[in-house]
Amino acid sequence: MSGDIAPPLALLAELTHRCPLRCPYCSNPLELERASAELDQATWQRVLSEAAALGTLQVHFSGGEPLVRRDLAALVRHAGAVGLYSNLITSGVLLDRARLAELVEAGLEHVQLSFQDSDAVSADRIAGLAEAHVKKLAAAALVREAGLPLTVNAVMHRQNLERLPEMIELALKLGAGRLEVAHVQYYGWALANRRALLPTEAQLERATSVVAEARVRLKGILTIDYVVPDYYARRPKACMGGWGRQFLNVSPAGKVLPCHAAESLPGFEFPSVHAASLTEIWYRSEAFNRFRGTAWMPEPCHSCERREIDWGGCRCQAFALTGDAARTDPACALAPDRALLDRLREADAAAPAGDFIYRQIGAAPAPAGRYFLAHSP
Ligand code: SF4
Ligand code: FES
Repeated sequence: MSGDIAPPLALLAELTHRCPLRCPYCSNPLELERASAELDQATWQRVLSEAAALGTLQVHFSGGEPLVRRDLAALVRHAGAVGLYSNLITSGVLLDRARLAELVEAGLEHVQLSFQDSDAVSADRIAGLAEAHVKKLAAAALVREAGLPLTVNAVMHRQNLERLPEMIELALKLGAGRLEVAHVQYYGWALANRRALLPTEAQLERATSVVAEARVRLKGILTIDYVVPDYYARRPKACMGGWGRQFLNVSPAGKVLPCHAAESLPGFEFPSVHAASLTEIWYRSEAFNRFRGTAWMPEPCHSCERREIDWGGCRCQAFALTGDAARTDPACALAPDRALLDRLREADAAAPAGDFIYRQIGAAPAPAGRYFLAHSP
């Protein structure tokens, strides 16, 4: 603890942007890092030691697809040695019995596996990879066979929300203890694909009642996490638990970020693990302090009773929609820019879904600025 800033709960270690899948809602930035820019094993191990020294409790190994890194087991082993609980966030398509055994032996404690759909044809189309779904089913079985706890991460949107009941049944069948029903959030690739992904109000209402019924029916068997998507919310989510409050994110090239989308924000110098320790960055960097606490907030947040509940919402969404990261998140019905979000939602929900722009290294669709509407001064 330093002053009134607590240490982060978790480190999101984005080991790589390489991935065999091409999901059109990927939360990675539009400009994806190439393999040559990635931190090496020794540097990641130093980062893990620094996270533990800072007081972090958990590491989420993520990407891209973290299994493309041959040194993943060595990193998991190091995380355990310095006292971090390790979770693997994976698509599962590269997970085989030998690889899983290596990770279990290294001390891996939890696996979070993403599913694109319950229907194999649709799932493979959304992932942009043939046979992806069948490989994921096999990976889930291996994880349960190894005795590791499994969370199924179901990313839901206009093109699969009708099959939410089947997704819940799939999570049950796979032996998951937790199901995250994760509505797409519109940054990066998902923002470029918003028209193809944003659900209609009728779809959302049905999904919300499906979850409510399943939570009662499956109490004690399957925990279901569910948050209403921002574009239909009355109040925003506390993104990342508040800027610089609970999480830090290290990008494949070693940038230290308060959230996975922060590199979309202009006017920031995000520090590198090569230049300073995680402790120095967490407590003293301008980037982490810029939107920490409540002093930076504009009205109506500054005098709002929820300011220490949602921390003014998401800075990256405020920027994506208004062009100014310091404005109230338009996901809040009290935000001066709420009308922007309402107009976009109504226009997108009424339009045909259109084709996906698939995620691809070296093929960013356009500068993010193309997708936001600047607010009127
Ligand atoms: Fe949250 Fe600001 Fe909206 Fe209040 S006005 S609910 S603090 S986003
Ligand atoms: Fe960056 Fe919400 S994703 S603050």
